[in-house]
Amino acid sequence: MIENLVRKNILKLKPYTSARDSFLEGVLMDANENSLGSVINDEHNLQLNRYPDPAQNKLRVKLANYLNVSTKNLFFGVGSDEIIDLLIRIFCEPKKDSVVIPEPTYGMYKVACDINEVKTISVPLNKNFQVDVKATLAAVQKNTKMIFLCSPNNPTGNLLSKNGVLQILKNFKGIVVIDEAYIDFNEAKSFLPELKKYPNLVITRTFSKAWGLAGIRCGYSIAHETITNLLFKVKAPYNLNKLTANAILDALSKIKMKDKFVQKLNSERDKLISELKQIKDVKKILTTDANFITFRIKNANEVFTKLANEGVIIRNRSKDLNLEDCLRVSIGTPSENKKFIKSLKDILPKR
Ligand SMILES: Cc1ncc(COP(=O)(O)O)c(C=O)c1O
Repeated sequence: MIENLVRKNILKLKPYTSARDSFLEGVLMDANENSLGSVINDEHNLQLNRYPDPAQNKLRVKLANYLNVSTKNLFFGVGSDEIIDLLIRIFCEPKKDSVVIPEPTYGMYKVACDINEVKTISVPLNKNFQVDVKATLAAVQKNTKMIFLCSPNNPTGNLLSKNGVLQILKNFKGIVVIDEAYIDFNEAKSFLPELKKYPNLVITRTFSKAWGLAGIRCGYSIAHETITNLLFKVKAPYNLNKLTANAILDALSKIKMKDKFVQKLNSERDKLISELKQIKDVKKILTTDANFITFRIKNANEVFTKLANEGVIIRNRSKDLNLEDCLRVSIGTPSENKKFIKSLKDILPKR
């Protein structure tokens, strides 16, 4: 029973009821908005002077159609970062419950736990950056409410093996979050088909990567209705603004364009990998199914700084668990990728 995992105060919570919960149209004199209009040009006639739909209905219908799931499974957040935070707040009692995080992985899981005073238990991923099932399950304590898995994993780039993830799902009775922020780059490997079998599974995704909409802040979760309802219960009343919602509706009519971006970025990634392979100081290139490459290089800190001095900004992941001397580069445009390789070759010592 999912309810048994929920914080008691959240179960008891009477959520805020907003003006737009009941009526979106009519003579709207219920929300103290500016009835005369807005100070800026409302280009798309979105009625920006009015609050947005708290139930995110149009968006959920359109996304449900794309994903072939029920609208009841869908929730939109201000980036998937918001959903990560909400999940912790729903299930984890501060100073009492804990969350297991296989690492290295996306840093926000720990930050969101730290903000909420929820203990984190770090478990190393194995040498191939796959979930160490035995160690992960062994790390679970009496008050462990959640395990975060990330596939493809950031910052390593690899997909998590189906078998390992299924074993976690089968054996852990708390909430399993699978962060699929980068799944568009290899959609066939999504854990979405498992959703029907596991009511404790939450999949999070984002429009910030393949869809090219990082600037409008929108992510979503796909989960059992009970969990989705809890997310609606605790979210800020109007978390998703009209400009963002309108852009997402537009994006969902342009799926082919997203697919083209994916194709292009994947082929640029493969080219970049072949270039990196030819550089002697590059000691290892991690397997990647995302729009970035993490590689081990001699004197990573120095290389990182020198690249930055050349105006090429990548990410230094050397301090992450088991990623000594590792740098992460996002796939750029063809000319950015060329510039990156040229700068890298220029700054490395000539032999
Ligand atoms: C694994 C992973 N999850 C979530 C996010 C955040 O996504 P959003 O922009 O939807 O908050 C990122 C961003 O880099 C990420 O790498």
